[in-house]
Amino acid sequence: MKAAIIYTSVTGNTAVLAEEIYIEMNHHIDDIDFLTIDQVDFDALPDYDIIAIGTYTWGSGELPVEMDELFWEIEERDLQHVITGVFGTGDRFYPYFCGAVDQFRDMLYVQSQLAVTLKVELLPQGEDLKKVPIFCERLLSKLVSVPA
Ligand SMILES: Cc1cc2nc3c(=O)[nH]c(=O)nc-3n(C[C@H](O)[C@H](O)[C@H](O)COP(=O)(O)O)c2cc1C
Repeated sequence: MKAAIIYTSVTGNTAVLAEEIYIEMNHHIDDIDFLTIDQVDFDALPDYDIIAIGTYTWGSGELPVEMDELFWEIEERDLQHVITGVFGTGDRFYPYFCGAVDQFRDMLYVQSQLAVTLKVELLPQGEDLKKVPIFCERLLSKLVSVPA
């Protein structure tokens, strides 16, 4: 079983969440690529069983520009066999909280086996981090439920 955690983060909030997800996933999966968006080989995306994508939100509920290519690549590839989850941080000060997570959610629902989403306000706190094992469980439980 092979998994990837792919994320972007400018001020570190999404990076903290990504690291917590990586630590938790490591309890269950040996082979995990922990990648910032600039490290991703798009041709390798179909080789993963699980992909978790992490993003902050920019503009007015928009994807960060560095995530655009990943979004388009997944839209154009057949990832129906890949279980996916999307997580992110945002700020409720803005009218569209974590809009980038919603954009990935809607696309991944069509293009892959979307299992779970997680939104956190700014730097993850204790209550947010309690949701990390649940996020990972949902990814893994979808894996066992897919017919061989
Ligand atoms: C110019 C600007 C626009 C933003 N727009 C949104 C937004 O529309 N929705 C939202 O939820 N958060 C918005 N944010 C907040 C960031 O997504 C939030 O601070 C996030 O945690 C940053 O993630 P990072 O620390 O991983 O870079 C915006 C922040 C900035 C500076």
